[in-house]
Amino acid sequence: MPVPPVAAQTAALKDLVPTGWLIGAALNQRQSDGVDAAAVDLVTRQFNSITPENLLKFESVQRQPGTFTFDAQDRYVAFGATRGMTVIGHTLVWHSQTPAWVWEDAGGGLADRATMLERMQTHIATVVGRYKGRIRGWDVVNEALNDDGTLRDSPWRRGIGDDYIARAFEFAKQADPNAELYYNDFNLATRPAKRAGAIRIVRALQQRGLRIDAVGEQGHWRLDSPTTTEIDQTITELRATGVKLMITELDVNLLPPAARLAPGESPSPASNPFVNGLPDDVQQALAARYADAFGVFLKHRDDITRVTFWGVSDADSWLNRGRVNHPLLWDRQRQPKLAFDAVAKVLSETSTSSR
Ligand code: XIL
Repeated sequence: MPVPPVAAQTAALKDLVPTGWLIGAALNQRQSDGVDAAAVDLVTRQFNSITPENLLKFESVQRQPGTFTFDAQDRYVAFGATRGMTVIGHTLVWHSQTPAWVWEDAGGGLADRATMLERMQTHIATVVGRYKGRIRGWDVVNEALNDDGTLRDSPWRRGIGDDYIARAFEFAKQADPNAELYYNDFNLATRPAKRAGAIRIVRALQQRGLRIDAVGEQGHWRLDSPTTTEIDQTITELRATGVKLMITELDVNLLPPAARLAPGESPSPASNPFVNGLPDDVQQALAARYADAFGVFLKHRDDITRVTFWGVSDADSWLNRGRVNHPLLWDRQRQPKLAFDAVAKVLSETSTSSR
């Protein structure tokens, strides 16, 4: 027997997931531009879906009114297309990473409902329309809820009213009738009241006869929170509305909560304990955490359609922010961590038995 090349010896997540599942990663621009060759190679081998970490946010696409930027965005979509991957769009309507002009009138006050709706529709029609048939599904509305389940006081809501969510889904459907449409948010597992709010959003859309295909729980988690019971319950409750479930931005934050660093400020040693690497016990705890989470996902394998990591390697993660975090399956050298082996193991033990 010839010895297989090194790359072939490493298990690929996309070959291990249950049939029909998407397994993805968020790509930064260096990756979707092909500049970060090591990450490109890893993504190509491991994943069958991609999400743009920032490129399709409002501020990246339409920073100035009516001026759309699509160069890097087109390369992102082509990256997925040439590799036969399922390409995801993130995100159309959000309170963050959206330029202020979107919500302002000429005097700097809040724009009126008609103006804001027109801007929303133009943006959605242009962006979704451009990638019609090529982007499989969109996070139409992102993070519309407070932790207590009430609607967030987003400028979109202040200008348009509570039905801004419904209108966004309507515009997206008009722009690409075949695209899947998602509602995406965080803390749905840790906050039952917020989860109930997400269920109300889904039901309200359904009652209006609007299309919603899935709810995304972002999955920005910690080692001990949410519990597997909470994850399990979340999937069951959301699924009862009839939509599918996606884990859209999975990572496990290993650092203690700390205030955001000011520019130039250094983190205290206590807030940044893993500068010199992850101790074995934490490495193992992370592996167990990921294995447990995937165990729950696999229990619901017919209800979950996609799991996407928010980044490729620890070096790429948004959770570093001036500190040294280790939230993903690949380390800074792009080597698979124990957590990768743990996920691969749980996938190969569980999902193959059902194929
Ligand atoms: C984050 C990106 O990872 C960062 O690069 C950026 O500076 C801020 O946004 N929820 C979302 C994502 O829906 O879009 C966010 O991504 C992380 C939280």
